[in-house]
Amino acid sequence: MASESPSILPGTSASIERAAAALRSGQLVAMPTETVYGLAGNARDAEAVARIFAAKGRPSFNPLIVHVSSLAEAEALGHVDAAAQRLAARFWPGPLTLVVRAREGNAIAELATAGLGTIALRVPAHPVARALIAASGLPLAAPAANKSGRLAPTCAADVAADFGSELACVLDGGAAQHGLESTVIDATTGDLVLLRPGAVTAVEIETVTGTPLTRSEHAPDRPSSPGQLLSHYAPRARVRLDADEVKSGEALLAFGPHPLETSGPAVNLSERGDLVEAAARLFASLRKLDAALASSDATIAVMPIPEQGLGEAINDRLRRAAAAR
Ligand code: TXA
Ligand code: MG
Repeated sequence: MASESPSILPGTSASIERAAAALRSGQLVAMPTETVYGLAGNARDAEAVARIFAAKGRPSFNPLIVHVSSLAEAEALGHVDAAAQRLAARFWPGPLTLVVRAREGNAIAELATAGLGTIALRVPAHPVARALIAASGLPLAAPAANKSGRLAPTCAADVAADFGSELACVLDGGAAQHGLESTVIDATTGDLVLLRPGAVTAVEIETVTGTPLTRSEHAPDRPSSPGQLLSHYAPRARVRLDADEVKSGEALLAFGPHPLETSGPAVNLSERGDLVEAAARLFASLRKLDAALASSDATIAVMPIPEQGLGEAINDRLRRAAAAR
């Protein structure tokens, strides 16, 4: 059963302070932006990011947009090259998202970027979103604040109707001005690629760059959908799912209070069998086991993970990793 709807708070400085405190303590908050309402959490807190996926009911870990308050903050998280700088200068704050190479040590949860080594950054224009980022002092991961498969929400009541106690509150910022999500541009190389059409038109962008934008469907080496994107990151090691024993030479990715016996490298995604904790630890655990295995030919044996709640997205990620080799 859906629990009681979250409270809708007016976009005053008192409620923004309250929402910022909730974000700092790892809770989720719905915030207005000029495009659509966003489901925001601390992008540096892997469990908060895992709870975003759980709240949305997404069956996969799509990378999320990280919202910051200035180009300088964006540059602290990613390498914004000259072409991206020109777009930022023209369209930020505003409904443009730039995917750039992530800066090492930026401490953003890998779950927020799907472990891709790139990061999607946006400086929103809505004053309440800006005030919330400033008050929290955090980079905010925020997908549209709707349940997976539902329409993107353009007012606070839409959000409140979709969610329950997973949200600390919904900040009311009135009707979203655009009602359409931000335009997503891949700026990881000099060649700018349109990954998602949105509130800023391709023509507006081309006017700034002076060159036609590449469409992702015409750039075979670029991901055009989150699905293609997700098959990108996989550990070097082979991945064997639904293991009921650990063979000699294998590493173990365990789940739950009764891990399989092994003398080899092992990581438990969640000793207490908590899927939010498991999701939060997934990428780091795969990397750790990958590093512990001497040969890239080695195998990670994965214990069964229940196909419910976030388990669906965890298994989706693991199945892709298993299929990648
Ligand atoms: O208007 C918006 O952008 C809203 C508001 C809340 O800001 N947010 C939003 O987030 O639409 P979301 O998570 O629903 O969309 C993120 C988009 C997806 O198309 C995703 O594939 C793409 O950005 N994306 C994120 N990180 C990426 C990356 N590293 N590489 C390529 N695409 C990325
Ligand atoms: Mg979306």
